[in-house]
Order: sequence, then C-alpha cells, then structure tokens
Amino acid sequence: MHFSRAINIDDLRSLAKRRLPRAVFDYIDGGAEREVTLRENRRIWEDICFHPRNAVATPKPDTRVTILGTEIALPIVLAPLGSTRMFHPSGELAAAKAAGDAGIPYTLSTFSSYSFEELSKASNAPLWYQLYLAGGRAVVEATLAGAWKNGFRALAVTIDTNGPGMRERDFRNGAPQFMGKSFFAMMPFASQVIVRPRWLAGFLADRKHAMRYPNVLIPGKGPLPAMDVQASLRDSVVTWADLRWIREAWPGPILAKGVITGDDALRALDEGVAGMIVSNHGGRQLDCCRPTARALPEVLQAVNGRAEVYVDGGIRRGADVVKAICMGAKAVLIGRAYGYGLAAGGKEGVARAIAILKADIERTLVLLGCPSIRELNGTYVELPKSW
Ligand SMILES: Cc1cc2nc3c(=O)[nH]c(=O)nc-3n(C[C@H](O)[C@H](O)[C@H](O)COP(=O)(O)O)c2cc1C
Repeated sequence: MHFSRAINIDDLRSLAKRRLPRAVFDYIDGGAEREVTLRENRRIWEDICFHPRNAVATPKPDTRVTILGTEIALPIVLAPLGSTRMFHPSGELAAAKAAGDAGIPYTLSTFSSYSFEELSKASNAPLWYQLYLAGGRAVVEATLAGAWKNGFRALAVTIDTNGPGMRERDFRNGAPQFMGKSFFAMMPFASQVIVRPRWLAGFLADRKHAMRYPNVLIPGKGPLPAMDVQASLRDSVVTWADLRWIREAWPGPILAKGVITGDDALRALDEGVAGMIVSNHGGRQLDCCRPTARALPEVLQAVNGRAEVYVDGGIRRGADVVKAICMGAKAVLIGRAYGYGLAAGGKEGVARAIAILKADIERTLVLLGCPSIRELNGTYVELPKSW
C-alpha cells in the first residue's frame, strides 16, 4: 500500500514497520518496561462513550480553536519527537512544513538534527520549542536565545524525565551498540539494517547530520552528539527550581510537559506556567504511570481555568481528539501518529496523518450533531463511573 491510501494511523504504522529497520521502528513504537502505560494510554480513550445529539444537520463543522492566543486550524499540535532524522532524512523539517501547511503548531525537540534557522526558514507553522537541560544552564540560556530569535514562541519544558526510561526493545535491538563507535559491537545487530537497503542508503548519506543536535552547542565541542544524550539527561534533570531561571530566560509562554497529577498541576501553576501538557511521555518513561485520559479530569479540576491544559498519549483517531476536547482540554499533542507518517513518506506522510485525523474530527462532529469544536463540552461524553 502507498501511504496516500492509508485510511487510518494503524495503516501508516504498518507502512513505517515495512520501511524501517527494527531498531528504528521500535524506537518510535516502543515504550518502557512491560509497556503497560503505552498500551493503556491508547486503550483508555475507548472507555469514553459519546452522547450524540441526533437529527441535527451540521454539514461543515468548524474545527478551529485558539490556543496561547493564536487561532489554529485543528485542536492538534505536533509533539516533540527526538531524532526524527533517523525515521526519514527530512525529519523535523518535513514535520514542521506539514504542520505549517495544515495550520497547526509544531514542537521542536531539544534532540533535533535540524537547526532553529533551518526550521524557521522552512515552515510557516506556529513554532514551539521543547526543553531538556542538556549541556547545563549556560548552554540552555544560549539555546533559548537562539530559539526565540528564530521565531519559536512557546516553550514546553519536559518535567517527566527524572532519568532515562528503560525501553527494553531498544536494548534488545542493540540501540546502545548502534550509538557507539565500535563497528564490531554493531555486527550482531547488522542484519536488521541490511534488510532495509533503501532506508540504509538514505541514512548513510545523511548520517553525519542525523546523529548530532546543532541547537545544543557544547562549548569547545560543538553540537551535542546523539551518543551523549542519555548521560546528558542523567546530568541535567529539570527541577521546579529551574523553572524560575527558565522563566527569566524565556520571554514567551511556558508549558510544563509531563503533568499527570493534580498536585503537580498546582506546583506548575505556582511557577507561573501559561499551560500544561498532561503527558506521560507516551509511556516511554515510568511504566504503570496512569494513562493520560485518566489523569486529565484531576488536572483540569486542580487548574480550574487558570492555565491552558493539553493532553497527549495514545491519540490515534480524531474521535480521541474530540473526546479530549469534550473533557476540557484546549488541544491535544500527537507523537507517534505523525512519527509513523514521517517514516512512511516524509512530509507527505505527515500530511497524510494530519489529514486522516482532520477527516475523523469532522466526521465525529457531524455524527455528534455539534457544529464546532468550540461548542464541545462534557455533555457530549460519558466517562466511566469509576473515574
Ligand atoms: C520517538 C519518540 C521520541 C520522543 N522524543 C521526545 C522528546 O525529545 N522530548 C519530549 O518531551 N517528548 C518526546 N517524546 C514524547 C512525545 O512528545 C509525546 O509526549 C508522546 O509521543 C505522546 O504519545 P503518543 O506517541 O502516543 O501520541 C517522544 C516520543 C516518541 C514516540
């Protein structure tokens, strides 16, 4: 099947699986430890039922929403995904271009292999930047200045990475060996790459660029190399105290990414965030962490309208997006849904993923009898009694 004929995100996932070596596919697709949170994030959207208003004609539903003061075409933001140049050589550039064409924001990961300048030249999307404290405070302050100068206007500070998660698939597939420099250490894992010659040719031509992060410039060394990421995450954990100096260094709105309890939501409000993303990192960090749809009501209650609340995790259908908005989220972020599209077909693959979700959202609004995303509310859904 060609990606242009994919009718749902699972089709794009199957195409990505056929195009990528196992190590790269599993890096996108996998989660931490037993992958309980990865599975539950997705499954739990199915526990929420719709209450439609029948015999209502809404032929052209309006999908626009305003977030952080900017009107966007759909209540969707592309989430930060690190190292997407491994999925496809056009990586972050392709995703940001597709977001711009669709009229939705794009969030650039700290671990991007394209520079701020390249992104801002290529894309007309509202640009957000995701922050890890890689390299320490002085490096981060320079990075933030670079992001702002190049038109990035919102900052998502990821707070769910107290340390690296244990993604067992990555270890089984030899990710540490591929990241290392020893050719001999890679040998036992080479077969998974050799069976994907098209991917391999593209990757080898691009390898020099794909495995380093030009927005994180380490003094005296240059761009942070991919192989140093785990160590840099361990060395520079974000704490609430850091939010204070980050706020001094960033003139725009700050979002806390990785809020999963009401208590942390209150803590984030104390630090003056403009919004927060209910997220467990797509089930890639703490396994058996509560699924995000389950956490959303508690966070919304704690925030009580004092900041914008977004949610990500397990969103694969427009119906999931509509459910999140009915529950009170301003918008959702999607990660793997567009990551699979990028792997399947570069920019056009990301565009296909967004188009699938847009068509789903419009159809769901029509079937719900609701003329606009802005009119969705809790009366359109029924949450499980036990929540
Ligand atoms: C391949 C991959 C890489 C990711 N890299 C980052 C990252 O660099 N920074 C970050 O804050 N979150 C990262 N995330 C988490 C996403 O931003 C997002 O929270 C998650 O993908 C949402 O779940 P979903 O994939 O089920 O939509 C990554 C997720 C994936 C799948």
